[in-house]
Amino acid sequence: ASTLGTQAAQSGRYFGTAVSAGRLGDGTYTGILDREFTSVTPENEMKWDTTEPSRGSFNFGPADQIVNRATSHGQRMRGHTLVWHSQLPGWVGSIRDANTLRVVMNNHITTVMNRYKGRIHSWDVVNEAFADGTSGRLRSSVFRDVLGDGFLEQAFRTARTADPAAKLCYNDYSIEDWNAAKTQGVYRMVRDFKARGVPIDCVGLQAHFGAGGPPSTFQTTLSNFAALGVDVQITELDIAQASPTAYTNTVRACMNVTRCTGITVWGIRDSDSWRSGENPLLFDRNGTKKSAYNAVLTTL
Ligand code: XIL
Repeated sequence: ASTLGTQAAQSGRYFGTAVSAGRLGDGTYTGILDREFTSVTPENEMKWDTTEPSRGSFNFGPADQIVNRATSHGQRMRGHTLVWHSQLPGWVGSIRDANTLRVVMNNHITTVMNRYKGRIHSWDVVNEAFADGTSGRLRSSVFRDVLGDGFLEQAFRTARTADPAAKLCYNDYSIEDWNAAKTQGVYRMVRDFKARGVPIDCVGLQAHFGAGGPPSTFQTTLSNFAALGVDVQITELDIAQASPTAYTNTVRACMNVTRCTGITVWGIRDSDSWRSGENPLLFDRNGTKKSAYNAVLTTL
């Protein structure tokens, strides 16, 4: 096939991109979006600071724009993200009472998931909860510090009730290398959830890579997570300087793992990227396909 989405579909996978509501008026951008991609992740519009800027007051305008457009163009949606320490409004970060924070977290998950019920194939229920470095434990955040490590389990249970049809994912960065302590920490959590019947369906590996691309253990990491009984998804792929080899290695690892169900790149053109200085994407600022694009298309 001649596009990323149609080629990925031949093996039952989706090929997605992050989308920004503010760019939907750009015809070059939407032209590529509709031609190439079968899944859409809102880049910022479903984050807590946008969806619930003050307690109980929800703002779905920007996310609605993206979801409505994707739905009418036949694109599937990833939900990103419900519980995250970043892009979190100050009113949540200053809660010190556990009962209050539990109610607030559960209400946020339930209200946002209900809004888009039936229209999201996979939700990043919790994003980036694990610490960098060698601890293999959760990072400090208002959620961990006030609710304890059990906030993750609570979030996933609440999410399952809110939209039983959505796949519930844990999403993080720097969990691509099997030998990293952070990867091992996430692996133990997923194994524990599966053993105790806590609902989890997928692990999202962000895959924000340096110029060398994925670590040599990347495919091993994908297949080891999959062996726990979850899907894996590459959720935010971008690679400094976008070498075709680095992109090929990333996509091949997913293609070699049956339960790797889809790949999302974190933006369309280099000029759309949060790392625009590194030219990490598949299209240049004019919307022209880069050599990395051809490498991905032939590897899918
Ligand atoms: C980034 C967005 O791309 C930027 O526009 C925003 O300023 C900051 O967040 N991990 C994630 C994404 O899960 O939500 C982040 O997106 C990139 C890192």
